[in-house]
Amino acid sequence: MKYNVILGTGSSAPENVVTNHDLEKIMDTSDEWIVQRTGIKSRHIARPGEKFSDFAVASARTALERAGIAASDLDLIIAGTMTADYIMPSGACSVQAILGADKATGMDVCAACSGFIYGLSIADKYLKCDPDLHILVIGGEIVSHHLDWDDRTTAVLFGDGVGAAVVGARSEGHRLLAVETGSNGNLGSLLYIQGGGSATPITKDFDIKDTYIQMKGREIFKHAIKNMVDISNRALKNAGVSLDQVTKIIPHQANIRIIEMLAHQFKKPMSEVFVNIDRYGNTSAGTIPIAFNEAVEAEFLQPGDIVLMTVFGGGLTWAAAVIEW
Ligand SMILES: CC(C)(COP(=O)(O)OP(=O)(O)OC[C@H]1O[C@@H](n2cnc3c(N)ncnc32)[C@H](O)[C@@H]1OP(=O)(O)O)[C@@H](O)C(=O)NCCC(=O)NCCS
Repeated sequence: MKYNVILGTGSSAPENVVTNHDLEKIMDTSDEWIVQRTGIKSRHIARPGEKFSDFAVASARTALERAGIAASDLDLIIAGTMTADYIMPSGACSVQAILGADKATGMDVCAACSGFIYGLSIADKYLKCDPDLHILVIGGEIVSHHLDWDDRTTAVLFGDGVGAAVVGARSEGHRLLAVETGSNGNLGSLLYIQGGGSATPITKDFDIKDTYIQMKGREIFKHAIKNMVDISNRALKNAGVSLDQVTKIIPHQANIRIIEMLAHQFKKPMSEVFVNIDRYGNTSAGTIPIAFNEAVEAEFLQPGDIVLMTVFGGGLTWAAAVIEW
């Protein structure tokens, strides 16, 4: 009997680190406010010329090496991102070309922060149709290009970075027990980028400010908790696992207060929750795969752990995955 398993993980972020103290010099904010309200101390911000595929390829190479899979053996590359190198071709196709993954199909998933778990969900279903496939799932962003550095309510929150996982079917390994996704397009106006699509195309009168992230933070906060709890319960039910059996949580890294409230709702101590928001901020689709990879590297995940991952983002979208480590 073969199960869908995680074969390897990787992650990568720009070298350039911007601290809260750096931000104090360019906008009316303080390290104290940012740490207290969000838990963020620093974030990685791409330098001019650095692009999505640089970090997607680096994380993919690590994940492939750990999986023992050659790029040429990949059948599918799914990139959860809204900040690929180009509007067209897709980020997955850019990665395919650089890796030389010639027999793979490449596609992007546009689900904002939920992109990586959406990608896992697609990979899970492909593998249920054909267990011989090898699939690379990537999630991450160069989101800094969409930040208004004059807007302290959004600029301090986000950072750049990408993570990846290779998924396949095996008789043993880190088993993917369930992946669930959800969305509500009626709430799209709570978190959006107005310009560059067909509604507000780039014309000669285009206002660059229309490419910046707009967010109603307080409202997002409430929806984030409710939907991450609901989708997690659905994923646990489908995995046949009770909340009591969950031993590790890898949550979306958008705000430490959201993470703490989630832990409280799940009645779990923070020692069982992986947190790296202090060093990355919110990397959108990157938060889950970067945290996942760091949790693996730090041996925070131990054999036998039941791991719950849950995420929330623009769309609105949300998702959860349950893995037996
Ligand atoms: C964005 C967020 C951190 C704001 O925290 P908050 O406690 O709701 O803060 P508010 O927006 O109510 O602002 C409180 C005050 O701080 C000020 N403020 C906002 N950003 C600030 C900053 N960077 N530095 C200093 N002060 C700031 C506001 O102007 C406001 O001042 P006022 O009371 O004088 O008007 C929080 O709402 C959040 O994390 N929301 C969810 C975000 C999320 O999950 N997004 C991603 C989904 S992918």
